[in-house]
Amino acid sequence: MPEMTDTMTALKSELTALVESATDLTAIETARVAALGKNGKITALMKSLGAMSPEERKTAGAALNVLKDEIAALIEKQEAALKKQALDQKLANEQIDITLSPRPERRGTIHPISQTMEELAAIFADMGFVVAEGPDIEDDFHNFTALNFPPGHPAREMHDTFYLPDDPEEKGEAAKKLLRTHTSTVQIRTMTKQKPPIRIITMGRTYRSDYDMTHTPMFHQIEGLVIDKDTHMGHLKGCLTDFCRAFFQVDDLPVRFRPSFFPFTEPSAEMDIGCSRKDGGLKIGAGDSWLEILGCGMVHPSVIRNCGLDPDEYQGFAFGMGIERIAMLKYGIPDLRTFFEADIRWLKHYGFDPLDRPNMATGS
Ligand code: PHE
Repeated sequence: MPEMTDTMTALKSELTALVESATDLTAIETARVAALGKNGKITALMKSLGAMSPEERKTAGAALNVLKDEIAALIEKQEAALKKQALDQKLANEQIDITLSPRPERRGTIHPISQTMEELAAIFADMGFVVAEGPDIEDDFHNFTALNFPPGHPAREMHDTFYLPDDPEEKGEAAKKLLRTHTSTVQIRTMTKQKPPIRIITMGRTYRSDYDMTHTPMFHQIEGLVIDKDTHMGHLKGCLTDFCRAFFQVDDLPVRFRPSFFPFTEPSAEMDIGCSRKDGGLKIGAGDSWLEILGCGMVHPSVIRNCGLDPDEYQGFAFGMGIERIAMLKYGIPDLRTFFEADIRWLKHYGFDPLDRPNMATGS
């Protein structure tokens, strides 16, 4: 059937040209209808197959099917290309300039007290201590009596305590409210609540009525407590020596323990670290001078008994130190009062990067 072949060849080029010349989605739809629609050219040829002999129909039918598929594929391809073109066009039109610089924001810093507390937690956590907590508003029992300061004991006077009005709902020592003068209160709170072995630190605010270059009415302390069956003075010395070397990042930092007195420890000691003073500057490390850093001692048997534990069975050590003081020494901050002035320039200078948090892995 040569005429049929010719017709198809002509139709193919005609439809191909029609599809390829379509420049938008409406034109492509028109081309589809013209070729494959109900009254389309290929559809019309399909219909003419019925009039042919079976032989002719077989070859012409197959060829016509190939043509139909080719044109359908071409339409699809052209349509996809046009859709992509339309999308690209739309994206180009809707482009926004994301290179505009953001409003400059002041980046905050971590206060040296928070930084130091995180460092302390990291070092003591590494030694197996857990963090305990206690309230700032305390009573006479937890701040003094249970810690072996009997009523009228002169050591009470040394604490410059802020007293609060008595709590009418409590009786006796529990009614006598005050702002805790030290974190040793948490020794009592822990031992009355938890059976040994105990290995805790606690960090928080403490209050004493005092104000000068090295005293503020509110300051922070860290307290440590270890209670077990055979914890001794050697453990105290080893633990605190390791702590000072890790905290001040001086591996061979000299330390010494001097006898001292606290009502709640026996024996009691103060710990010094080595330093050198030159040209008004202070350097921590081996040198010709010493700096007092903390108070410590073996927990007094009376304190253990006051907490309901048997001092013949349990013993251990405790220590306490001022967080501002060790922060000042480590970071060279000269005046304690500046910690609480909230001066943005001071915070910018002495503050720490919020994204660079202390951990034992990096040693910071
Ligand atoms: N609580 C004592 C103080 O504030 C410090 C201390 C704590 C001493 C634990 C010995 C043991 O001065």
